[in-house]
Amino acid sequence: MSTRKNNKSKKPATNGSRTNGSRRNAGYGALNPKSEDLAKNMEESAGEFLTSDQGIRINDNQNSLKAGNRGPSLLEDFLLREKITHFDHERIPERVVHARGSGAHGYFQVYESMAQYTKAAFLQDPSIRTPVFVRFSTVAGSRGSTDLARDVRGFAVKFYTQDGNFDLVGNNIPVFFIQDAIKFPDLVHAVKPEPHNEIPQAASAHDTFWDFISLMPESMHMIMWVMSDRAIPRSFRMMEGFGVHTFRLINDAGKARFVKFHWKPLLGLHAVVWDEAQKISGKDPDFHRRDLWEAIENGDYPEWELGVQIVEEKDEFKFDFDLLDATKIIPEELVPVQRIGKLTLNRNPDNFFAETEQVAFHLGNIVPGIDFTNDPLLQGRLFSYLDTQLTRLGGPNFHEIPINRPVAPVHNNNRDGFMRQTINRGQTSYDPNSLRGGCPFQAGMDMSGFTSYAERIDARKIRERSPSFFDHFSQATMFFNSQSEVEQNHIVKALRFELGKVETLPIRERMLALLAQVDKTLANKVADGLGISVPTKLDRPMNMSIPADGDPKKFQPKRVKAEMDVSPALSMANNLGDAVKTRKVAFLVGDGFDDTSLLEMKQALLTAGAKAMTVAPHLGVLMGQDGELVKADFSLLTASSVLFDAVYVPGGQASIASLLQENESTNFVLEAYRHCKTIGAAGAGAELLRAAGLPLPAITDGSNGGDTEPGVVVGDGDIKTLAAGFIEAMSLHRHWGRESTETQTGEQPLMNNRVSEEARV
Ligand code: HEM
Repeated sequence: MSTRKNNKSKKPATNGSRTNGSRRNAGYGALNPKSEDLAKNMEESAGEFLTSDQGIRINDNQNSLKAGNRGPSLLEDFLLREKITHFDHERIPERVVHARGSGAHGYFQVYESMAQYTKAAFLQDPSIRTPVFVRFSTVAGSRGSTDLARDVRGFAVKFYTQDGNFDLVGNNIPVFFIQDAIKFPDLVHAVKPEPHNEIPQAASAHDTFWDFISLMPESMHMIMWVMSDRAIPRSFRMMEGFGVHTFRLINDAGKARFVKFHWKPLLGLHAVVWDEAQKISGKDPDFHRRDLWEAIENGDYPEWELGVQIVEEKDEFKFDFDLLDATKIIPEELVPVQRIGKLTLNRNPDNFFAETEQVAFHLGNIVPGIDFTNDPLLQGRLFSYLDTQLTRLGGPNFHEIPINRPVAPVHNNNRDGFMRQTINRGQTSYDPNSLRGGCPFQAGMDMSGFTSYAERIDARKIRERSPSFFDHFSQATMFFNSQSEVEQNHIVKALRFELGKVETLPIRERMLALLAQVDKTLANKVADGLGISVPTKLDRPMNMSIPADGDPKKFQPKRVKAEMDVSPALSMANNLGDAVKTRKVAFLVGDGFDDTSLLEMKQALLTAGAKAMTVAPHLGVLMGQDGELVKADFSLLTASSVLFDAVYVPGGQASIASLLQENESTNFVLEAYRHCKTIGAAGAGAELLRAAGLPLPAITDGSNGGDTEPGVVVGDGDIKTLAAGFIEAMSLHRHWGRESTETQTGEQPLMNNRVSEEARV
């Protein structure tokens, strides 16, 4: 042993007190060592000859080899065969879940050393930038499905740390549908398209999903989240991430603490509305992917802070829920989230397949200083990822694919298998050996050798669920209680939609009975929408797991008295952040626009960090009344209000007249209004709003006071004042009051959807 240690310690020391000198790139300077590593595999064909896979220059890539120019193709044509064969094998299986995703490169930096809690190398030194690759995903849909499905979003982060890869494979929702991994295949079979007709794609609104859920009371907390606006985010950049399970942090002294991981987006939490989500799915199914890509290309690098909730081991049982139960959160009000570092995404992948598709996350990729708990969902996941990737990526060597390989060096006795890239030198591939002096040798704990936390276990082997997992409703109720009125209404509508698509009546009824356990008003409102009533009692026992001793008291569900019934941190309305920065504003413009009202608003929005894009009756260049030339970014046919955050109509009689020639222009404004977006107009621009049937305020200076309509900002004078009012209105994200008018009266608030005759110019 002493020889091994001496060998190791001869290598140069790295940052601070750490002695793991063999770690390549430790101290990561300005450059991203993972990007440098990936560069070794990059191919760039600019200025190069076309070649075969064997490097032979190709003279004719247009014609196959034939006997005569009308003759049969010849088997001899190795170029044809190579090209077609490669093409024939281009596809690999998509992920069994989370197939649809988008990725980006970036880095993570801790704010200050977390040595007190963990020895994880990447959490020690604020000067170290640890490279990361992040993949966001939906769960149910296939690879080509829409980004805007109502669904959980995956939030998987691979940290290429100096001690090896650490994967934090989380979601944008902090709890899960099930408590035990043995139910995962059932859950996924239920939510995926139904097996007899493969309908519907990327949607939970169908019988099999709700059949399963209605028999699984443990899913009720998750259902509240998935029916909330969290499941239709405005952007990946505007959603939280969660490690979901309770993990462990271990410090140098071997002391362990429980930890929950959080990602907090610096842009705040924002969603679209359901009608909008469905329309985006048609207008731009790549909406989230495009948003992430464009933000990074524009230098608007998405950022999240890493948060931790730390619980001392002695406090494991002090909560009224079990820390090992993945259907529960630790309310932030009970254990505050400490923000310990920042994740920045600053580079788009070079090749979607090579990076985003081939990246393989695995919960089991952990580093010294982090460890698992006995959460039975977590434990099952530990098996699943590596197992599924063996098939998805075609064998045991996918850790060598550039996006997956660590920046930390890899030395072991694993050998061979399909597509092996590493050329292992030397005579030995076993341990212990004497022929290589025992190399590669085991690392002591002081050399960053991983050791599992020595948790004491004293138990019977048994298939049983702990009664401490049986309260399926208290936190579901807490989540519902914590939502604003608007958010609660959205949950009601989402459930009416989803259950409205269910064809089997008893499934709807069972769901209503479960919802009544969460909140009676909620259940009644959903029942009203379905035209049925809430059953008076819940079928019991549900979710039959028969206790080994047959004791009926051990049947779930069982509500306990919860310590908290409201957690304000759970409402997106309390986490608005910055709703202006990076947002897209559509400028509806035609030829003859008022130059000042366009240019000054555009400048004000740019200064506030927002983007202005022109949408016009035709593509090409538009001319203002004073001669300003502006490029049309979109025509009314290629754009849609659902792809923007706000709408502004500059003045100019001729511009408005040309817009009014197109029905799409008034539809654009009206739809944005119905989706509660900020709408602004300068001078004659107000005529377009009026033509769309908007309840217009009197012309104001934009300060929007008095009895004017919230979020509709109209001005006739100073554009700077109008812009200030417009940006202030945008900062609220949406003006939900418009929805409650609809809900209360049951009518559309608007007069009509047509362009009024008198508004036509
Ligand atoms: C807290 C619960 C869970 C969370 C947060 C979660 C999260 C994720 C994420 C983010 C991905 C996508 C990874 C990527 O972008 O490549 C993923 C994929 C996957 N998950 Fe989970 N998952 C959970 C539960 C489970 C369970 C219980 C199982 C199985 C027992 C499972 C099996 C899988 C599989 C097979 C994949 C596909 C992996 C691949 O092909 O690369 N997950 N999961």
